[in-house]
Amino acid sequence: MRAKEGCLLFRHCAVAGAGTMGTGIAITIARAGIATTLFDLDAAALDRARAQIADFLAGSVRKGRLTEAQGAQALDAIRFSTDLADLADCDVVVEAVFEDLGVKQSLWQRLDDVCGAQTIFLSNTSTLSITELAAASRRPERVAGAHYCLPAQVMKLVECSRAIQTSDETWQRTLAFVAATGQQAIETRDRPGFILNYFCIPYHNDVIHLIEADVAEPADIDRAVKAAMGFAMGPCELLDMIGLDTQVRLSEAMHAVTNDPRAAAPPLLRRMVAAGLLGRKSGRGFYAYDTSALYGA
Ligand SMILES: NC(=O)c1ccc[n+]([C@@H]2O[C@H](COP(=O)([O-])OP(=O)(O)OC[C@H]3O[C@@H](n4cnc5c(N)ncnc54)[C@H](O)[C@@H]3O)[C@@H](O)[C@H]2O)c1
Repeated sequence: MRAKEGCLLFRHCAVAGAGTMGTGIAITIARAGIATTLFDLDAAALDRARAQIADFLAGSVRKGRLTEAQGAQALDAIRFSTDLADLADCDVVVEAVFEDLGVKQSLWQRLDDVCGAQTIFLSNTSTLSITELAAASRRPERVAGAHYCLPAQVMKLVECSRAIQTSDETWQRTLAFVAATGQQAIETRDRPGFILNYFCIPYHNDVIHLIEADVAEPADIDRAVKAAMGFAMGPCELLDMIGLDTQVRLSEAMHAVTNDPRAAAPPLLRRMVAAGLLGRKSGRGFYAYDTSALYGA
């Protein structure tokens, strides 16, 4: 268990949204020895997350990254819930629900009613304004951005940003929380895409336009990018991990704010999503997958 001294300040934390990101973020918190509630409205998403987390932790034990006791403790630390009331006494709630301002804002409002005054709210949004999200909360000074990198259970980086309203105390607690869970915070301003998605969203859409224009096959684009640019993953492999439905939401949200034509969701992307080709989570995107395993297991 990667218990950090700071985890004493964080006794119970929650993640809202048990999808691609929320599942990985919950692992990072539980692995630090903090009681973690993973909340989703969809019970099937929680069942999937539970199986993926158990599988990932078993893989970590097999690879010698955790002892058997640490793996079991991390799994025991996670409670799976469809009841928002279970988040009442949390020190921190990390929100990782759909990239949709209305969905996120209405969740913040319901959390205002449920959570104690000590709870801080961190949004994992990739493109939306932390300041606008904070404005929907009755405790805007307790809201900040914490954008984890995919896959959160493997990558250490968290882009952290302050809303205009974020208090100094909330900001210090945000940085302390990220450190207590063994992650590395990098400060960014509250701007659409922060550092990474500012160029990743348009770059990924450019790649989809290349495929649509029949310039090259996805596997050849991935091979070219990895060979020439030294990236660990090709863009089509990464898009399949991000989720093609999420890429549509990210593109729409970023395009709405920046009006950058390269941020607009390409027609091929929309057609693939309409056909249920969502990437790893549905078993097929640009490539085919076993849906039960989390990356890095
Ligand atoms: N996928 C990525 O590569 C990536 C990377 C970094 C950040 N993000 C951000 O993380 C967030 C989640 O993205 P994702 O890819 O995990 O999405 P996802 O579609 O895989 O999962 C979203 C989950 O949220 C749940 N949900 C939706 N509305 C809810 C509500 N009101 N209350 C509780 N649960 C709710 C859904 O049931 C689903 O399980 C988005 O803001 C996205 O921008 C995504």
